[in-house]
Amino acid sequence: MEIPQIRSEILQDSRLHWITVSSCTEVAAAGEDVIQGLSRPQKTLPCRYLYDDRGSALFEQICDLPEYYPTRTEQSILEAYAPEIAQLTGACELVELGSGSSRKTRLLLEAYQPLSHELHYCPIDVSAGILKSTALDLLTQYPTLRLCGLAGTYEQALAKLPPPVLDNRMLIFLGSTLGNLDEQVRHQFLVQIKQTLQPGEFFLLGVDLQKPIGLIEAAYNDAQGITAAFNLNLLQHLNQCFHGNFDWTQFRHLAFYNSDEHRIEMHLQSLISQTIDLKALGYQTCLRSGETIRTEISCKFHLPALTVELESHALQPLQIWTDPQAWFGLLLCQRQCIPGDCP
Ligand code: AVJ
Repeated sequence: MEIPQIRSEILQDSRLHWITVSSCTEVAAAGEDVIQGLSRPQKTLPCRYLYDDRGSALFEQICDLPEYYPTRTEQSILEAYAPEIAQLTGACELVELGSGSSRKTRLLLEAYQPLSHELHYCPIDVSAGILKSTALDLLTQYPTLRLCGLAGTYEQALAKLPPPVLDNRMLIFLGSTLGNLDEQVRHQFLVQIKQTLQPGEFFLLGVDLQKPIGLIEAAYNDAQGITAAFNLNLLQHLNQCFHGNFDWTQFRHLAFYNSDEHRIEMHLQSLISQTIDLKALGYQTCLRSGETIRTEISCKFHLPALTVELESHALQPLQIWTDPQAWFGLLLCQRQCIPGDCP
């Protein structure tokens, strides 16, 4: 595996530190996961390819859809409890995974601003475009803010996180993005979270909860077809990354709830029998008419089970908030001491 290139720049009167960990277009080895996914009996594609700049813009539109309840529900929980969260943790450096437009994070920035003379926020996102425009926007809005933006995947970015400036840190992972990781990847991810945090530090996690299937399926099959466009855009992104020949008009969007796995699955179904050629990867594969490629899973959580899982990774939920209908959960977890790693 190639070592990703890292570029580091200091901008905006040193209030913005910018780190780029190479994206898929620069590191050929990144295509490994695409080849692996397309070579399985149930073809899959990594869902992070949904988020090029156009995909991130479409996702922003999804967040405003009447059917897509998660964003506004989580937002309402943060509106009610951000000050309480800040009270519980005290001043700390905020590091956010998958920050996107940081729209919900602004509620946390407001709550943390009065706690220290400088506000430290480190947004991480695979989409460099949205990350950079958000960073510049936040700097004008919050005069005491110092920003360290990292463009890259979670694994890359967590490994390259600059040393903490404050002696308390909170990792933030909102939007139920945890649900996009399958059980094995989620396990590895939580191990990395545990390793990144010092004992006593915090992990703020937003998760979508189990609820009647009709509500969930509607959220991923919106009437305006924005989710379909978001899903199909992945093919165009792959064409760009790997010189592919995907013709998005020969696919259709599918999203359904898998009750056994408690998750939404998004697929792209081939309308014809066709050969896919990804030139930059030297890889070809055939699709039967009607065959699907799974592009995303979105697990819906059960709070008691999730609590046990977090505890098994030394992440102790201190407080859990939900909306009145218990559609969405926000968990403030603290990294515990485990024998061998505490002073
Ligand atoms: C916010 C990334 C978790 O799984 O609900 C929205 C992505 N996919 N509509 C989710 C998404 C289709 C979303 N995440």
